Amino acid sequence: MGKKIGFIGAGNMAEALISGIIKSGVSVKNILVSDINSQRLNYISKKYKVKKSSGNAETVKSSDIVFLAIKPYQVEEVLKEVGILFNNKKLLVSIAAGITTTKIEKYLRNIPVIRSMPNTPALLGYGAIAITKGKFAKTSDLRIAEKLLFSCGVVVTVSEKDMDAVTAVSGSGPAYVFYVAEVMRKTAVKLGLSNVVAKILVDMTLLGASSMLITSEDEPEVLRQRVTSKGGTTEAAFKVLSNKKFGDIFEKAIVTAKNRSKEMS
Ligand SMILES: NC(=O)c1ccc[n+]([C@@H]2O[C@H](COP(=O)([O-])OP(=O)(O)OC[C@H]3O[C@@H](n4cnc5c(N)ncnc54)[C@H](OP(=O)(O)O)[C@@H]3O)[C@@H](O)[C@H]2O)c1
Repeated sequence: MGKKIGFIGAGNMAEALISGIIKSGVSVKNILVSDINSQRLNYISKKYKVKKSSGNAETVKSSDIVFLAIKPYQVEEVLKEVGILFNNKKLLVSIAAGITTTKIEKYLRNIPVIRSMPNTPALLGYGAIAITKGKFAKTSDLRIAEKLLFSCGVVVTVSEKDMDAVTAVSGSGPAYVFYVAEVMRKTAVKLGLSNVVAKILVDMTLLGASSMLITSEDEPEVLRQRVTSKGGTTEAAFKVLSNKKFGDIFEKAIVTAKNRSKEMS
């Protein structure tokens, strides 16, 4: 795009984005980063050969697109400092969880804002990322953010009211999967397998099943039924899950996460 891209905050998520954006073909000369943690800033600028900015103000002044990649509780302080420096030729893309576009726009003067919700697999380029636009952003701004974030995973556009559901489903989602892995590995060891064998079998089962989900046109329910023969082992396992109402408990957990996200934002 030839646009200058700035990052306020050079933490974990910023690193995932910077690495993805460079791989997608953006020149390192067009990437500028600021962070109050000078050690972290030095690490990022050295590793990715991106430009170190003298501070958040310079990042905003010198960039066309500014990623707000700081923790949610740091957003207000940073926008009080640099909000005034945005003009309507610039685009702000926030990745701060739970911070609404309205909240961000309060510190800006009619500036286009895109809010995004990545998840941790974005660190490997396998993110599930949702984006939404603020009051002053256009569809073309959404497309710019989409193009940049696409370097870290799959990007979907949702309306802002759905961001709490996104947070509960894909934001917290990796933790649900890690929990399944945790229980499966522990049980495998209890059943006599070594830690190494348990890790290999469980991790590969999750990768294999996820790959089938992504490549198959069948619903997960159908894929599950194919593994479940009458009177067999999987059926016996699912009798226990169904008796304990596992599906209802899991649904309640996701709904509770959504309500908590709403409360927090
Ligand atoms: N990590 C995830 O899985 C994930 C998933 C979805 C969304 N997010 C969102 O992504 C955002 C960033 O998360 P992260 O995990 O990358 O956080 P992080 O690793 O803590 O990175 C934030 C960086 O910003 C720096 N910083 C703090 N105040 C600053 C300021 N005033 N000006 C410039 N830099 C400042 C921090 O320095 P100090 O360490 O010295 O404070 C830190 O280096 C968060 O809002 C989070 O909600 C993260």
